[in-house]
Amino acid sequence: MIILGIETSCDETSVAIVENGRRVLSVATASSEELHQKTGGIVPESAAREQLSCMIPVLEETLIQFQPKIKPQKALEKIDALAVTYGPGLIGSLLVGIETAKALSLVTGKPLVPVNHLEAHIFGNWLEKRPDQFPNLPGLALIASGGHTELILVNKKDKKYQFTFLGGTRDDASGECFDKCARVLGLDYPGGPAIAQSAQGAPEKLIGNPPLSLPRPMVDQKNLDFSFSGLKTAVINQVRKLREEGFLNEETKNFFAWEIQEAITDCLVKKTIQAAKKYPVGSLLLGGGVTANQVLREKLQEEANKLNFNLFIPGIRYCTDNATIVAAAAYFNYQPIPWSKITPQPSLSF
Ligand code: KG4
Ligand code: ZN
Repeated sequence: MIILGIETSCDETSVAIVENGRRVLSVATASSEELHQKTGGIVPESAAREQLSCMIPVLEETLIQFQPKIKPQKALEKIDALAVTYGPGLIGSLLVGIETAKALSLVTGKPLVPVNHLEAHIFGNWLEKRPDQFPNLPGLALIASGGHTELILVNKKDKKYQFTFLGGTRDDASGECFDKCARVLGLDYPGGPAIAQSAQGAPEKLIGNPPLSLPRPMVDQKNLDFSFSGLKTAVINQVRKLREEGFLNEETKNFFAWEIQEAITDCLVKKTIQAAKKYPVGSLLLGGGVTANQVLREKLQEEANKLNFNLFIPGIRYCTDNATIVAAAAYFNYQPIPWSKITPQPSLSF
């Protein structure tokens, strides 16, 4: 089955064509990241306008990549079904993808599958794998992105996937924390990759003898929730103090980036392992932009080895927002509904 997926929940406009939920036949993604660099974060209105101008060119590019020798309209005939993210996300951004998908469904008569963006991140772990390499279930998923930080139990019963929410952030998401801390340090948007890069320049002498340490909120509590706003406030206060004292230079800035990355990843790893020990799971599945972080991947791999869990990590390009994961989710959890019943759900959960 060949599915064309559309993803427009935030600041990426992406269209992908995926066969049997795992073989990527073509994908094109445009991002309004550069625009948001100027404001140091996403302005929903600007993101929606950018979605509008990118949607049709990205759709056309994906169809041409898929069937270069025929017209895009003809290429559409070779698709079996359509899929689109209907939430969670920014209302203006979601609307662009949803209305495009509805129009395509109406014109082509192809079935349309609405996809939960968080589930899509989980199904990123099925991409480019043979069936004998698929994650063993029940599994535990950590979704960590700019808008979400959640632990989900993933199971399959009577051929249907089930998702159970185990815990999540009580305030900021982990990606949001990366983004806001980066802004305080004067680093680029998105903050995650910028902090990871700056952290590489942290001097050994400061790492070995840290002049300060940031809090790891809630890690000693028994629940499976996270909190990142206190960490962000601590960064704001400490950076302000260093700046006032004249100690904020390239070295201390890089050290700060290193400590921020350590603190955020420590929180994510601790709670994930706590959940993995509590539930009878054999695998850990990662998803969301923050799980592209190398330090997080290494820490989780080390823990997974100790506990004998299989760790599934999507390729970096499938961690951040893109439509391949939407097409994959639609294939494995195939539930088309009439296009007239699909509406955006900005705060959709599990
Ligand atoms: O999943 P995603 O592309 O979009 C949302 O659904 O939010 O995630 C974007 C988030 C941003 O907060 C960004 O800073 C973070 O993922 N991110 C990273 C890395 N790459 C992206 N965080 C830490 N390390 C990275 N390498
Ligand atoms: Zn996402």
